[in-house]
Amino acid sequence: MNRILTTVVAVVVASGSVMAQAYEKGDWVLRAGATTVDPQTDSDDINLPGGLVAEADVDSDTQLGIIPAYMFGDNWGVEVLAATPFKHDIEARGKGSIKGTNLDAGSTKHLPPTVSVQWYPLGGQSGRWQPYVGVGLNYTVFFDEDVDNELVGLLGDLTSGTVNGADLKLDDSWGLAAQAGLDVLINDNWAFNVGVWYIDIDTTAEITAKADGVTAAKVKFDVDIDPWVYNVGIAYKF
Ligand code: NI
Repeated sequence: MNRILTTVVAVVVASGSVMAQAYEKGDWVLRAGATTVDPQTDSDDINLPGGLVAEADVDSDTQLGIIPAYMFGDNWGVEVLAATPFKHDIEARGKGSIKGTNLDAGSTKHLPPTVSVQWYPLGGQSGRWQPYVGVGLNYTVFFDEDVDNELVGLLGDLTSGTVNGADLKLDDSWGLAAQAGLDVLINDNWAFNVGVWYIDIDTTAEITAKADGVTAAKVKFDVDIDPWVYNVGIAYKF
């Protein structure tokens, strides 16, 4: 991301003195870019057969972010963070006697729509920089959860072959979000944008172990995903 920021700054400096029109009440600002969800995972223990314990870890993913905002005052906007679906791999990391043993546990897709109220300290003023901060509400819906064959294989090994399948289910999450961002205007309508959000996403995971399609055991555990979300892209004001 540093290289992209450097490029943005270089282009802006090269563009000379830009005195773009102010952001004002009634404006729309449509932002789009590469949006990365980087989970800061904190998982409860996953109790496996034979007294073994693991915890979950969730990988990051980058998708196309589509982020419209409406200025309902010269200094105030409301924004929706939307994106194409994120897909995250989930790893099971051994604890205690199996510490250091990690395996692919599965994957999930999710959509994390977030509605935020934003404050623009330089709203209503002409200038090249339009920083903003905001707070909002996130709803995350998980779907297409999958269990990896590596986890099914481990469960089979630990149950002498009884378990030969598994399902994963993740509960939806409501949580608060905080954000900061900056538009660097290159003319009256176009700007470069960088934005960051911290989103509180907590879910409960349920793994159902199956023997020939019949439920053999269930294990439930809480997972705090609490990602940092980054967007690097462009903005268009109209
Ligand atoms: Ni949390």
